[in-house]
Amino acid sequence: MSYSTKLSLTINGQPRDLDVDNRTTLLDALREHLHLTGTKKGCDHGQCGACTVLIDGRRVNACLTLAVMHEGDAVTTIEGLGEPGNLHPMQSAFVKHDGFQCGYCTPGQICSSIAVLDEIRANIPSHVTSDLTAEATVTDEEIRERMSGNICRCGAYSNIIDAIAEVAGTRA
Ligand code: FES
Ligand code: FES
Repeated sequence: MSYSTKLSLTINGQPRDLDVDNRTTLLDALREHLHLTGTKKGCDHGQCGACTVLIDGRRVNACLTLAVMHEGDAVTTIEGLGEPGNLHPMQSAFVKHDGFQCGYCTPGQICSSIAVLDEIRANIPSHVTSDLTAEATVTDEEIRERMSGNICRCGAYSNIIDAIAEVAGTRA
């Protein structure tokens, strides 16, 4: 009986084939098999958000999902968002606003924040949305709530909010 599976998925726009033990998390597949170490392992059990990636545009904790569940999916990691000289606007805003210190949580923070703004644009309510019939808006309270799954042990939170708000266009 085989305990490994061959799968094909798209990573940062490139088709990739993998042959992984069925128990391999997406996080370990990215870091150990594909050597994309931008995605970080903090807690490895869904508590910190350091491993957040985008799967078909939605944010997912890569430590909580198995690689074999993602046949055919499109995964975007921090490496796929931008690179030096051609940063994603959210990456530039984190740099401009000093939205990090050690940087360990930063790839997850950036992937998560991009998805947060997409969720607000799609009118998906959060726990702090008071009027479910009104259009969702970008407020500091909404950003704090929606980013609450991404922990920063350096405490760069206020600068992270500034970066996200700038990309959202709610302040410079
Ligand atoms: S490493 Fe995945 S949530 Fe902490
Ligand atoms: S910048 Fe150090 S954990 Fe967030």
